[in-house]
Amino acid sequence: MNLQNKIAVVTGGAGGIGSALCHQLSAKGAKVVVSDLNLSAAEEIAAAVGGVAVQCNVADEQSVIDLIKTTEAELGQIDLFCSNAGFGVGEPDHAASASNEVWQRNWDVHVMAHVYASRALIPGMKERGEGYLLNVASAAGLLSQISDAAYTATKHAAVAFAESLAITHADDGINVSVVCPQYVNTNILGLSEQERAKPMKGVLTAEYCAEVIVDGIEKEEFLITPHPEVRDFMLHRAGDPNRWLSGMRRFRQSLIDENGKVDFRNVFRQS
Ligand SMILES: NC(=O)c1ccc[n+]([C@@H]2O[C@H](COP(=O)([O-])OP(=O)(O)OC[C@H]3O[C@@H](n4cnc5c(N)ncnc54)[C@H](O)[C@@H]3O)[C@@H](O)[C@H]2O)c1
Repeated sequence: MNLQNKIAVVTGGAGGIGSALCHQLSAKGAKVVVSDLNLSAAEEIAAAVGGVAVQCNVADEQSVIDLIKTTEAELGQIDLFCSNAGFGVGEPDHAASASNEVWQRNWDVHVMAHVYASRALIPGMKERGEGYLLNVASAAGLLSQISDAAYTATKHAAVAFAESLAITHADDGINVSVVCPQYVNTNILGLSEQERAKPMKGVLTAEYCAEVIVDGIEKEEFLITPHPEVRDFMLHRAGDPNRWLSGMRRFRQSLIDENGKVDFRNVFRQS
């Protein structure tokens, strides 16, 4: 997709990857709607990119519909909708220990939000014979996030939903991308500012991640992997699942040996 003069919406646009994406879409000539739960932060990014801020809770279908209606009324038809909002809170103990509330919120924000946006946008995009749905999942949706089963399971569902969209709607002229980064230096990592200022192993900047995403949009690539090694890991996992899982168990145990508990943050605190 050529982004010049396109109308683009980014949910979670006030956060790390989302705000970097707003900046880069705008630099490519798109008119950007910065949408977030946090309106004042979205307004700051919108002012910086010459865009419009709209508050939205992506876990609420009516709120997503309202975001789309507001955008259409103020700017016109949406060319590119980036479902990027997300969160991660980990689990307190074993793999089923997160509360039902946490599982439900993961499902609503990481999966249903993508369904709500697609449901509202597909009829118009089909009629026009064009449109672009970009869903930010995670490498956890292709592999696994140690110590967060709810995040992992729902990000896998997000990848599966994106595949269904691509299979069903490519012939309607609708492009679909799913973005699957490993660690990116944003608030979601749950680190202090001082910790985030230090170099961290395997952690990309949000700006670099957004550059790879925009490149993927321009090339209309389905799977966007800002960390290229993720594709090798996918092959290992598919080729020998038992070997893959024993490697993941060893890795998990090494995190426990170092700290007495599993904390995914230690993956990148090591340098
Ligand atoms: N940072 C990483 O390491 C990483 C890796 C893989 C995937 N991701 C994914 O990238 C996306 C962006 O995350 P980030 O790293 O920029 O995190 P972030 O915390 O910096 O930004 C997330 C943004 O989403 C917003 N948000 C959360 N819940 C919302 C809701 N219900 N409705 C509307 N907005 C909501 C937050 O207010 C925040 O501004 C997420 O989907 C995340 O799962 C991040």
